[in-house]
Order: sequence, then C-alpha cells, then structure tokens
Amino acid sequence: MSITAVRGFNDILPGDTEVWRRIEDIAFKIFSAYGFSEIKVPIVEKTELFLRSIGETTDIVEKEMYTFTDRHGDSLTLRPEGTAPVVRAYIEHKLYANPVSKLYYSGPMFRYERPQKGRYRQFYQIGAEILGDLSPRSDAEALTMLMRLFEEIDVRGAELQMNSLGDALCRPVYKQRLKDYLSGVKEKLCENCRRRIEANPLRALDCKNPGCMEATKSAPSILESLCGACKTHFDKVRECLELSGIEASINPRMVRGLDYYTKTTFEITSAGLGSQNAIAAGGRYDGLVEELGGPATPCFGFAIGIERVALLIKENGMERRPLTVFIALGDEAERKGVALLKAWRDRGVRIIEDFSEGSLKSRMKKADRMGARYAVILGDDELKSGTVAIKDMKSASQEKVSWEIAPDRIAIG
Ligand code: HAM
Repeated sequence: MSITAVRGFNDILPGDTEVWRRIEDIAFKIFSAYGFSEIKVPIVEKTELFLRSIGETTDIVEKEMYTFTDRHGDSLTLRPEGTAPVVRAYIEHKLYANPVSKLYYSGPMFRYERPQKGRYRQFYQIGAEILGDLSPRSDAEALTMLMRLFEEIDVRGAELQMNSLGDALCRPVYKQRLKDYLSGVKEKLCENCRRRIEANPLRALDCKNPGCMEATKSAPSILESLCGACKTHFDKVRECLELSGIEASINPRMVRGLDYYTKTTFEITSAGLGSQNAIAAGGRYDGLVEELGGPATPCFGFAIGIERVALLIKENGMERRPLTVFIALGDEAERKGVALLKAWRDRGVRIIEDFSEGSLKSRMKKADRMGARYAVILGDDELKSGTVAIKDMKSASQEKVSWEIAPDRIAIG
C-alpha cells in the first residue's frame, strides 16, 4: 500500500503554486509600498504563548492545537496563527524601541479542524501587523490596503464586515449584560455555549447551532455598550473608510475566535467559497503586547487565508506562463543549443530542453503532452542557415528565424 498525505495536510502542486506565488508577490509589493518589512518567526512556539494570547476558552486552544512534549519535556505547539509569535518576537527583540513597527509574514499555520473545502489542518496565511499606532486612521489604512490587494489579485465580490469589541473599560460591562441575557435563555443554548456563559459569553453570538442562533436573536448589541473612546474610534474608522471609497457593513454579532481583540474587528468574505468564505480577518489588539510582558502598545493586524484566495482566483482563471520545449537534432545542434537556451532564459523565456532521442514526430508529441506553447527545433538545415524553427503549438504555424532574433521571438508571459 502506498503512503498518502495526512488528512487535512495538502501538497500544493505546479499550476497551483504559480497562483500562490502571484498572490504573495502582489501582497509583498503592496505591503512594501505601505512601509511594511518582512519578519520570519518559527513554526513552533512554547504552548503558553498561545494560551495567554488566543485565550484558554477559545475553540483554537480547547480543541485545535497541535501540542506535543519535546524530548526535554517542554510543551510546544505548532503555531495556529501568526499574531502571537510576532508579538513575542517584538517584545523579545525590543522592537518597541521603534515608534512604529509594520511587519508582514507568510507561512503555514496548524489547526486541528474538520477538513473541508477551504478548511485544512495545515493552511497558509499572509499576515500583517502594525505595532505602535493607536490612530483609527491606521485601522482604516490597513483595511484600504487589504481591499486594494484583493482588487489587484482580481478577487471579485470581496465584502468587508466590521464590528467593535470595545476595550477593557466597556467590554466587561457588555459581557455582564450578555451573561445576564444568556442566563435567561440558558435552556435553549447548546452545551458548549452553556458551559461558556461565565468565561466567554461572546462566543454564543457566533455559534452555528440553530437553537443558539434563535435564542440569541435579540441579545444586546455590543455597539450599544461602547464607551465614548471606543465609539469615537469606531466612527472615525468608518469615516476614513468612506473617504477612501471602501464600503463596509456593520455586524455587531461578529465576535472572532481569538480573545486578544479590542475595538475594531473585521472579516472579509467572498461568495463562491461555500461555508468557509472568510478570506481575511483581523482587528485591533491593544492589550496583547502588555499581556505578554511588553510595554503597552496599540496594535492592528490581519491575516489572509491563501488557500481560499487561490481557490477564488483559480475559479476566475489565471493563465500560466507559456512553456517552450527546445528540440536539438544531433550532437552539433545540442552544442549550439547551450548558447541559445542561455539567451532565451536570460530574457525570461520559460524553456526546457527535450533530451530524448526518438523521431522528431514523437518528440513533438511529447512537447505537446508537456503543455508546450512553442516548440523550437534545431536540425541540420537550421544549423546550416543559422536559424531555428519556432512552432506555435496552438495555431500549428511555424516560422524560421535567425539565431540573432530568436531570443526575442518567444513570448515571456
Ligand atoms: P483567523 O480569523 O483565525 O485570524 O484567520 C485568518 C484567515 O485565515 C481566515 O479568514 C481564513 O481565510 C484563514 N484560515 C483560518 N483557518 C483556516 C483553515 N483551517 N484552513 C484554511 N484557511 C484558514 C487570525 O489568524 C489572526 N491571527 C488574524 C490577525 C492578525 N489578527 C490580527 N492580526
């Protein structure tokens, strides 16, 4: 029996990797234009980091972490997200000595979730974090950047939903109001929500259980409980987004699955992905740096799910770069081919040499099976006249061109 990949862990194959590369390239280019620098953090962290940041009563910590004990007896966890590791690095390397740090990252995350379309156990995120900026304009700028990114990679129908989760002043007041409400409808809630009424009542608003959805229909809205500072912040973010022409809908039931958020939170969804339709999410987390032992630092960030965005772009159709196959007939043609191949590759032409020895007909068939857009043939006649034959495999037309101009006669992209 052959060995297959672990469930929920995927191979990303050629064809898809080009789509991924394009998403990353465009994202990094845009982030850089907004002043972000790349940070690379480890895939494994001390378990305690995630307990203290994501929150002990979240689904991620309760049910989804890949936690193990290493040979030394330390409890380690494969990172389920990137924000906590970035904040850990920010504190450890005293990056707070800079007035503002704008950091981005890309890489695999691990969550033991039920695999389905758009949801995997190893999945990839591109994330960005702004540490040290308290202005609501910073939230709006990051959101504008993100929407611009989706536009540029041709994700259609991206919708921004926003909420505010308040701060240390007003959230406890709201939590109490919600607890009181939930206690009144306790019998109608699922076991999980009932258990969490005390520790994490906000989760009940996000529960997909039909009974819980019905029972929480008229639960108090967090937006009505915001303190003055949080309300002003939220209004300003909305105003700045409006100025930038970004539409946002307000969803007071959006509570997010991580406990570190304060004030602005958001999700961007796109139709056409089924139930796993969030392509990016994030928000403000003004208390996290201090919680993890650093100085009080206001922060805002987000992460994009690469698999989900790649699924959308693939559905829109993305052309791969054309492939050319070079066929040399005989030893002398092979020797001449070395210089010609170099000239094409220097120009950025994507070209491979066919090293097989069959008839020209069988080698052309092979080039076709490899998906070649062009085949270049160098035989005795061409050697004599200082030319190559370039065949367009789509139209089946063929032309002879001199070695001097041949490098320019094949499309790059
Ligand atoms: P999150 O909402 O847990 O936030 O994940 C962000 C995005 O990652 C989701 O919107 C989705 O596109 C993708 N994603 C999450 N889980 C999976 C999965 N199992 N399979 C495929 N894609 C998935 C965070 O992770 C926060 N760290 C975002 C953040 C950054 N907040 C502030 N800064």
